[in-house]
Amino acid sequence: MPKPPRGKVPLSIITIAVCALAFVLLLYTERISPLSSGSVFSFKSCSAKRNAAKLKKSGDKNAYIKPISYAEDDRFEFDPEECSLVHGKWVFNRSVNPLYSDRTCPYLDRQFSCVKNGRLDSDYRHWQWQPDDCMLPRFDPQIALRKLQGKRLMFVGDSLQRGQWESFVCLVESIIPQRQKSMKRGRIHSVFKAKEYNATIEFYWAPFLVESNSDVHIIADPKKRILKVDSVAKHAKHWTGVDILAFNTYVWWMSGLKIKSLWGSFDNGEEGYDELDAAVSYRIGLKTWANWVDSNINPNKTRVFFTTMSPTHQRSADWGNMNGTKCFNETKPITKKQHWGTGSNKQMMSAVTGVVERMKVPVTLINITQLSEYRIDAHSSIYTELGGKLLTDEEKADPLHYADCIHWCLPGVPDTWNQIFYAHL
Ligand SMILES: *[C@@H]1O[C@H](CO)[C@@H](O)[C@H](O)[C@H]1NC(C)=O
Ligand SMILES: *[C@@H]1O[C@H](CO)[C@@H](O)[C@H](O)[C@H]1NC(C)=O
Ligand SMILES: *[C@@H]1O[C@H](CO)[C@@H](O)[C@H](O)[C@H]1NC(C)=O
Ligand SMILES: *[C@@H]1O[C@H](CO)[C@@H](O)[C@H](O)[C@H]1NC(C)=O
Ligand SMILES: *[C@@H]1O[C@H](CO)[C@@H](O)[C@H](O)[C@H]1NC(C)=O
Ligand SMILES: *[C@@H]1O[C@H](CO)[C@@H](O)[C@H](O)[C@H]1NC(C)=O
Repeated sequence: MPKPPRGKVPLSIITIAVCALAFVLLLYTERISPLSSGSVFSFKSCSAKRNAAKLKKSGDKNAYIKPISYAEDDRFEFDPEECSLVHGKWVFNRSVNPLYSDRTCPYLDRQFSCVKNGRLDSDYRHWQWQPDDCMLPRFDPQIALRKLQGKRLMFVGDSLQRGQWESFVCLVESIIPQRQKSMKRGRIHSVFKAKEYNATIEFYWAPFLVESNSDVHIIADPKKRILKVDSVAKHAKHWTGVDILAFNTYVWWMSGLKIKSLWGSFDNGEEGYDELDAAVSYRIGLKTWANWVDSNINPNKTRVFFTTMSPTHQRSADWGNMNGTKCFNETKPITKKQHWGTGSNKQMMSAVTGVVERMKVPVTLINITQLSEYRIDAHSSIYTELGGKLLTDEEKADPLHYADCIHWCLPGVPDTWNQIFYAHL
């Protein structure tokens, strides 16, 4: 039996936090991979019992889509040293279309397939990120694949990172003929191959980066999760030999509870953990990751990226919509410059800054937090699934409990993250 929580947090706060997060965390749980087996969650305090069914494998009806041809005279030279992509604004342009849709790309999880899931408004797909100081280069799938020639690219992290991975795969896959590509989905590790380029675009599931008792078999109740904040080797052994590594971790730390942080081995039982504030535990976990990178990565061979936290939009009061329900029914980005909501924790951000600054191996930050903060309109909201099933009409009518304001529709905002990533490749 795990110990009872040591802190004296009022029960009501715990209940609220657990209700909010229990649901929220459900969103990642059953979606690690199509292979995850069914399970039953029940949260009495939230009166939400859900049966999780097996995800259906997406059909293999790969459509070969003609390459999008870009104007050849794209003369702009982007220089990451000269231009910050962090500050800017979203510009609406209806004639700019995403490079793929959730019908054309066969590799998208239904979790992100908003249009397939019934989303009718389309404006959210036509906003472009316009940095203040320069133009963000367009994502050219051909150039992206050429940059990956003979290489392994691996995204490592949580379901948001999986969204970024799927976005990247979808951005490039349409120019690859059917027989030249393959996808192998695994519970933990998935590999997309572009054969003619001898390149892979992979995803490795490690929601905390460091080890926890909830990595492979997810523990739905955040109170029962224990993190081994000083251990990363079990995951990291799968990261060696990769040419380009792109990490993230954030939202799993944000259960609203203290993090049960363990040093040493689980073999001594799961007692003996310390309960630490999320930001403290997060910093320790990041340092563990950073030490691994510094002692195992040869920066001449491997490039390392880190995607900063993806904001959640759970409080419509953050953007002044007092009558709103989380991000539900939002159709326009926030225009107020530097808007920063309660879903993006500044302490966690400064932990990233502090740790990355001290690393030997240079890490390129894909700082997506501010630009994504504006995009209350672009979450999956009610156009998603739960435990492998599309939300029912009753669930859709209850956005307070069922709207997903953490993950993003694809195509959508993660395409812009990849545009930034591409600009730095
Ligand atoms: C919108 O995008 C199209 C296609 O890239 C471009 O030709 C046009 O100038 C853009 N419109 C504005 C107002 O930027
Ligand atoms: C393909 O790429 C791998 C590294 O990902 C490399 O080891 C191998 O030699 C490459 N093969 C060819 C035929 O280029
Ligand atoms: C990386 O390359 C530089 C220049 O070629 C060399 O001085 C340095 O020792 C190399 N670093 C490693 C870790 O191999
Ligand atoms: C919010 O709802 C209240 C009562 O339903 C209404 O009086 C008020 O005008 C609404 N405010 C906004 C900003 O829509
Ligand atoms: C969603 O917003 C539209 C207007 O923006 C409004 O007409 C509609 O009633 C809203 N739907 C719900 C369920 O609040
Ligand atoms: C990312 O950008 C924000 C500003 O939008 C900044 O406050 C933050 O420190 C940056 N994060 C890192 C890790 O550099």
